[in-house]
Amino acid sequence: MSTLNNAPIGVFDSGIGGLTVLNALWQTLPQESFVYLADTARIPYGTKSPETVCQYAKQVCGQFIRQHHIKALVVACNTASAHALSTLKNEFKDIPILGVIIPGAAAAVKATCNQHIAVIATEGTARSHAYEEAIQHFNQAIRVTTQACSLLVPLVEEGWLEGEITQRIVEQYLQPLFKTQDVTTPDTLVLGCTHFPLLKRCIESYVGKNVQVIDSATTAAAQTLSLLQEHDLLSSAPKQETLFLVTDSPQRFITTANIFLGKPLDENRVRHISV
Ligand code: DGL
Repeated sequence: MSTLNNAPIGVFDSGIGGLTVLNALWQTLPQESFVYLADTARIPYGTKSPETVCQYAKQVCGQFIRQHHIKALVVACNTASAHALSTLKNEFKDIPILGVIIPGAAAAVKATCNQHIAVIATEGTARSHAYEEAIQHFNQAIRVTTQACSLLVPLVEEGWLEGEITQRIVEQYLQPLFKTQDVTTPDTLVLGCTHFPLLKRCIESYVGKNVQVIDSATTAAAQTLSLLQEHDLLSSAPKQETLFLVTDSPQRFITTANIFLGKPLDENRVRHISV
């Protein structure tokens, strides 16, 4: 075992939503330390072009990897995973890097019985066809229907997780995917955006019990554990409190974090970094 084993795991997101993935990582890897990096100065990534997202991700992760001694990087942002994962892997070969799309796709492939999977995501992830490619890489026969749901991102950040308006917006987006109710209707729905697990209850109440809702955060955390085992990188040291690095002023991040974690963040653990 080397000193690298006791280094933290880096978790990168465009902003606040990756806290859903961090939460799952905390549960799955209770003895590990984490540093969370949020590019809050340039959020949202979901409406930006692939080139811009790739450039942002490369720049901010480069700085992160150089300045913080991390042993692995989890790209918690679906949009960054869709546009920039292969670039990040090529650029930073010294540490294992995991995105959230392959774990989400793998879980959906396992769950579907009728071979029709629906995916909801940001505009950028939807346009990239990254989930479709990942799912069909596992099984070419599976049909994938993707729907961009851009409005759900600010809705979650406002803390509107339930209620009539949220229910109506969710229905508006999901109705085209589930308008038929027969054997060809998707039986699995992937929440392909960091923010959507917070709407799980609302989404499940619309799609009903026959549709399995897949949250890529949980599956990504399980794959992170496998990745660490594979690279012999599990920690043996006492865990450190998670450090949060943000590229915009910390205030909004601290306030909004409560919605995602269900508890307030310790302000002293949140630091501003310049990009
Ligand atoms: N983190 C992004 C994702 O999972 C959503 C927020 C954004 O658009 O930056 O795609």
